Amino acid sequence: MTLPGATDWKETVAPDEAERFERFASELRELQKKNARGGPAVRGLHAKAHVGVFGELTVSPGLPEPLRVSLFAEQRTWPVYARFSNGSGRHQPDRTADIRGLALKLVGVPGRKLIPGLEDKLTQDFLLIQVPTVPFRTPDEFVSFVRTAARGPGLLVPRLIGSLGLGRALSLLKGLATMPKVSSMATTPFYTALPLRFGATAAKLAVFPVGPTAVSPKSGTPESLRDDLVTRLRNGPLTWSLRAQLFVDERTTPIEDASVPWPEERSPFQELARLVLPQQDLTSERGTQLEAKIERMSFDPWHAVEELRPLGAMMRARAIAYRESVIERQAAPEPDEAVKLAG
Ligand code: HEM
Repeated sequence: MTLPGATDWKETVAPDEAERFERFASELRELQKKNARGGPAVRGLHAKAHVGVFGELTVSPGLPEPLRVSLFAEQRTWPVYARFSNGSGRHQPDRTADIRGLALKLVGVPGRKLIPGLEDKLTQDFLLIQVPTVPFRTPDEFVSFVRTAARGPGLLVPRLIGSLGLGRALSLLKGLATMPKVSSMATTPFYTALPLRFGATAAKLAVFPVGPTAVSPKSGTPESLRDDLVTRLRNGPLTWSLRAQLFVDERTTPIEDASVPWPEERSPFQELARLVLPQQDLTSERGTQLEAKIERMSFDPWHAVEELRPLGAMMRARAIAYRESVIERQAAPEPDEAVKLAG
């Protein structure tokens, strides 16, 4: 089968966007400070972690040429830190509907990195959520929504209509209302939802669970997503297949409009690697220390090599927003060593 993977993708950078994205980042930082209520700041979004764990990403054997990009060029294993989270900037019970996130940090990855000042670092991150596409077309819509939601659930609808207009507000609310509910992070696929460069072409990435275990999670409790992961990891490893969906053309797989799904019938997901979170006891002393270390880290799609550069306006807005959030909460510097995490 011939894989898609056209190379004529392009970004369209608005002349005013650098200034606009700085404003969005400052606004999110103000919300982050407000949420801290005078205490130490936590992440501006995705404040609540379910677990922070170590794992390994092993590149699959025999990848066809268009998939042999950057760290996927050779069959080898990369150590990984992983953090599972809720999307809100506040800690809230897991029964509350929310975006769910999975952040991965590969360590020991060579190549010049994109963030100024961090060019020599050895980390490559991928940030994923439980939906393949977001209902927001632009970062402006995303920030409008975060701003409105932060004022509380009352009057959310009229306020959104006020800021986005009736049509966009309704389509956004519909998109959010139809988001899949997550009862276990172990049985859920996660998607970058936004594109990145993939060598000469562009791609969206996703992880799909492989052989999820049948334990039925206790849902409805405040920490149900954590409890479920702790139990599953105590009993055995968890595995996901990391896959890429390649760019076809601007109409089918747009780079700038984040709200358009990339159709799987035109560009099916292709396996790149397997992510394994080995059996581990998160309640042990070592597990607790590892979780504390991961909590202080910063996961950012711009911790990346040029061959995997984030693409599109939403990604460009994130470059500034994550920097501000990380400064506000005084996150730890990038880990330097390809430490053997499991040792
Ligand atoms: C639509 C695609 C997006 C995905 C898949 C995504 C995913 C994530 C994930 C998984 C985290 C948690 C990282 C961790 O565990 O440390 C996170 C954090 C965060 N996100 Fe996003 N996000 C998206 C869009 C955005 C946008 C458009 C903005 C703002 C313009 C934004 C702002 C933030 C901020 C400020 C944090 C906290 C950063 C930190 O302090 O480390 N995100 N995001």
